[in-house]
Amino acid sequence: MITGHLLSAADLSKDEALNLLSTAKELAAITDGPNKKLPTLRGKTVVNLFFEDSTRTRISFETAAKRLSADVINFSAKGSSVSKGESLKDTAQTLQAMGADAVVIRHGSSGAAKRLADTQWIQAAIINAGDGTHEHPTQALLDAFTIKQHLRNDKSDLTGIRVLIVGDILHSRVALSNIFCLQKLGAEVRVCGPVTLIPKYIESLGVKVELDLHKILEWCDVANVLRIQLERQQIKYFPSLREYSLYYGINKKLLDSLNKEIVVMHPGPINRGVELSSDAADSSHSIILDQVENGVAVRMAVLYLLAGAKG
Ligand code: CP
Repeated sequence: MITGHLLSAADLSKDEALNLLSTAKELAAITDGPNKKLPTLRGKTVVNLFFEDSTRTRISFETAAKRLSADVINFSAKGSSVSKGESLKDTAQTLQAMGADAVVIRHGSSGAAKRLADTQWIQAAIINAGDGTHEHPTQALLDAFTIKQHLRNDKSDLTGIRVLIVGDILHSRVALSNIFCLQKLGAEVRVCGPVTLIPKYIESLGVKVELDLHKILEWCDVANVLRIQLERQQIKYFPSLREYSLYYGINKKLLDSLNKEIVVMHPGPINRGVELSSDAADSSHSIILDQVENGVAVRMAVLYLLAGAKG
C-alpha cells in the first residue's frame, strides 16, 4: 500500500492484503450482531467522489462509512460544478477545506486516484474506487474475501485455488486488480475471452490465456465473469452480442455439464443474457450476492485502517 492510500492492488504486499481481509472478517463478525454500528470513525468525514456511475461500490462505501459512524458526503459529478468546468484540483481543494479525512474516488480516467494522492491538493486518505481501465482494488479484495469464505476458510491464503476470469479483459480494471491481488494470495489465474478482448501484455503478468471456454471451465474452481463494457469500446471487438454469448456466455446448462462443481462470480452490473444467463446468475453456483455483502466488510476494513490512522 502506498502509505496512507489505497490506489491499486499492485501496490499491496501479501501481508497488507491478508491484514485487510482478516480485519474485514473481524468487522463482519461484529456488525453481524444486533448492533451494526461501531464508534470507530466518529468525528471523521468520508467523501464519496464519483465522476462515473456506480451502484454497488458507492452504496457499499457509504454503508461501510456509516457503520463506522463517520460523517459521509456523497458527491456525484452529475449535478455538481464539474458540469460548469470545475477542475479536479478545485474540487479536491474544496473537499480539503471541508475537512475530509478520506476520499473515495471513482473516475473515468486511469490514474485519477494517484493524481489526487500525489498532489498536495488534499491531505485525506485517497481510496481508488475504480479509475478508467486501470484498477479497482477494493473489488479485488472483496472477491478474494468471498473466494476464501467459500473455498479456503480454513487456510490463511488462496494457495492452490484456480481462478478463471472470463470476458472483456482488455477494458477491465476488475481483471487487473484481481490478477494482482489473487496471485499475491497464492491463487493461479487464467483468462478466457475473444482474442480481441485479451491484452497482449497479459502473459507477462504470469496469466495463461485460453480461448476454449468449456475446456477451461473444467480447470477452474472459480469463474469470475466480466461485463462486456460497450461504453469503453470505440470499435467492434466481436461480430455481435449473440455470437459473444454463444461462445463466451455462461449459462446453467454449461455449468451443469461440467465434471466438477465450480462457483460463479460477477462484479456487477450484469448484462443478463450476454456474459451470464439469468438461470446461472440466480443458481446455486452463484456467489454474486455474497460478493456484494462482503464488499461492505472489506470497505469498512479499508476505511478503518486508512481514515482511522488520520490524525
Ligand atoms: N462492481 C462495481 O464496481 O459495480 P458498480 O459499478 O455498480 O460500482
